[in-house]
Amino acid sequence: MNTNRKVVLVGAGFVGMSMAYSILNQGGVDELVLIDVVKDKAIGEEMDLSHCLPYAPQKMVIKAGDYSECKDASIVVITAGLSQKPGQSRLELAVANAKIVKEITENVKASGFEGIYIVASNPVDLMTYVVAQVSGAPKSKVFGSGTVLDTARLRYLIADYLGISSKNVHAYILGEHGDSSLVPWEHCYVGCKKMIDIMKDNNHPMDDLKKIHDGVWKAAYEIIEKKKATYYGIGMALTRLVKAVLNDENSILTISSYLDHEYGQNGIYIGVPAIINKDGVKELLELKLNKEDQDKFNHSCEIMKENIKNEIDPILK
Ligand code: 2OP
Repeated sequence: MNTNRKVVLVGAGFVGMSMAYSILNQGGVDELVLIDVVKDKAIGEEMDLSHCLPYAPQKMVIKAGDYSECKDASIVVITAGLSQKPGQSRLELAVANAKIVKEITENVKASGFEGIYIVASNPVDLMTYVVAQVSGAPKSKVFGSGTVLDTARLRYLIADYLGISSKNVHAYILGEHGDSSLVPWEHCYVGCKKMIDIMKDNNHPMDDLKKIHDGVWKAAYEIIEKKKATYYGIGMALTRLVKAVLNDENSILTISSYLDHEYGQNGIYIGVPAIINKDGVKELLELKLNKEDQDKFNHSCEIMKENIKNEIDPILK
């Protein structure tokens, strides 16, 4: 358990505030500080959220603040930056958001913060790299929301397809939080039965697995087309990550983690299952991928490397 349950949120937009609201509803955090470039936005959110406290499950200090608040925090969550417009890919935000996230990280670092950075700004795998480079923090202490949300979408869709509780679905999305993600179906279980065997035994067409994955990676595009932004899903996913750290859970979650020759890759941050506890990323749960999945994963990693070389590193120099 972490006795200092103080979380600083940088970015009081829809995503950040969805996390704040779900934390307030779930409890488990003692102090939540909101930082936003638009100070009044953070102050307004502080006021509005504080009015929930009489009906919340536990007390919580909620306040708008500045970067000096990071010094004694356990976690800083970064959600600031531009979000996708209809039809735009996450990668198109890379340059603009890298500049924003770089500056934020410099400010957090300058406070003397020594806790865990959780990054959600998109494209999250690249922004996690930015935070890691700029902060110089140990690899275990910097991770991104990666494919935690995609994995939730996958579990939801499988559960819906089979008519079985999503709590009994053990499946992961790997790779980029974006268009090149993949599902290693061989490692997907419902209860303790392989999803592939369930498909065969029930004469479900195998093509449906591709449709389920399409439903996952296209979800953000569809939601943004219809309501301009996504935020509840990622807000809840971030709360899940915050609690895994504060409760020292050793939970397996598909975060954007540094790869140090795992999966034959290195030097990038990308979505993989990892064990999360009070120290951040305890270790990766490395899956043995078949050739097809490894090829897809490598493709996703190549996209990250290209973007780092062409878009991100020039900004960090
Ligand atoms: C999402 O997947 C847009 O990354 C955001 O909902």
